[in-house]
Amino acid sequence: MSVNTPVHRVNHPLLAAKKLSLWVKREDLSHPQISGNKYHKLKYNLAYAKEQGFETVASFGGAWSNHLHALAYAGKESGLKTLGFVRGPLPVPLNATLQDASDWGMALHSLSYSDYRRRHDRDFCQQLMASVANGYLIPEGGANPLAIKGCAELGEDIARQVEGIDYLCAACGTGATMAGLIAGVSERTTVLGFSAVKNNHKLESDIRAWLPDDINEKNWRILHNYHCGGFGKLNRELIDFLDEWQMHCDIPLEPLYTGKMFYGLFNMIADGFFPAGTKIVALHSGGLQGLRGMAHQLENFRGS
Ligand SMILES: Cc1ncc(COP(=O)(O)O)c(C=O)c1O
Repeated sequence: MSVNTPVHRVNHPLLAAKKLSLWVKREDLSHPQISGNKYHKLKYNLAYAKEQGFETVASFGGAWSNHLHALAYAGKESGLKTLGFVRGPLPVPLNATLQDASDWGMALHSLSYSDYRRRHDRDFCQQLMASVANGYLIPEGGANPLAIKGCAELGEDIARQVEGIDYLCAACGTGATMAGLIAGVSERTTVLGFSAVKNNHKLESDIRAWLPDDINEKNWRILHNYHCGGFGKLNRELIDFLDEWQMHCDIPLEPLYTGKMFYGLFNMIADGFFPAGTKIVALHSGGLQGLRGMAHQLENFRGS
C-alpha cells in the first residue's frame, strides 16, 4: 500500500536559506480510515489473528485514539470482531472517534484511569481478556513485534522511493513505528524520532529491545524536547508554527504527532543541526481524524 503514496517536497524559506531538501512521505493518503502508520502496524497483527483463528481483536487507547479508530475499521474489513479498552469514562454522547469505532462494530469498554495504568501488566491483561471468547490482545498503540515488521516494510519502501536519504523523521508515541523504520532503512540513513510524550526515556530501551543486536548499530536518535508540554498538550509556539506551516505548505498536520515532529524538525533546522545539502524525509503518520477533537482547543489558542 505504502509504495503507492507519494513523496512531496516541502518548499519553505528556511529550507532554502539552509540549503536543505525536505520530503514528506504522504502515508496520510494511504487509506481514508487506516492511514499513516496504522495500516503497517495492524497488517501482520490482523493476519496473525485470522491465521490463529481468533475471533476478537482487542486493544487499548484514549477517547480520541487513532489506533482504536483504525483497528475498528480494519477489524470490520477483515471479518474480525473488535474490542476497545478506552482510558477513562466513555463520553456521552460518544465523540466522533468512538462513534465511528462503534459504528464499525467495535465494542467499547471503559477503564478507570488507575486501571488503564495497568495496561502493560500481564495479569491485568489476562483478567481483562478472561471473558472475551477467543480474543487476541494487541498492546496500546499496536506496539508489538508484528507491528514493527509492518513498519520495517514501510521503511524499506521509503528507502526505495527516495534515494540517498540522510535523515528520516518520525513522530514517536510508543516508538514501534520508529523501530520498524530503523530496521527498514539502510545504514546511511539516521532515523530521528520526535517524542510526543514528555520525559519518555523508556523509548530508547524499548526500541533497543525490539531490534535485533546488529540493527542497534544503525544510526538513530530520539528528540525529547519537542513534546510542547506533554502528550495531548499544545502550546503557543506549536500553534504559531502550525499556522506558519499552513502559509507555505498545503500538507495537513495534526498537532499531537506530526505537528510536533515538524515543529521539532524546523527548530533543529533553524538551530543549524543539519549541514547544507542534507536530504531529509519525514513520515506523515496520519492521525488527521483526531483533529476533530481539537477544534475547541485550537480556537482557544488562536482566539487568545
Ligand atoms: C498519527 C500518529 N503518528 C505517530 C504515532 C506514534 O507511533 P508509535 O506509537 O509507533 O511511536 C501515533 C500513535 O500511534 C499516531 O497516531
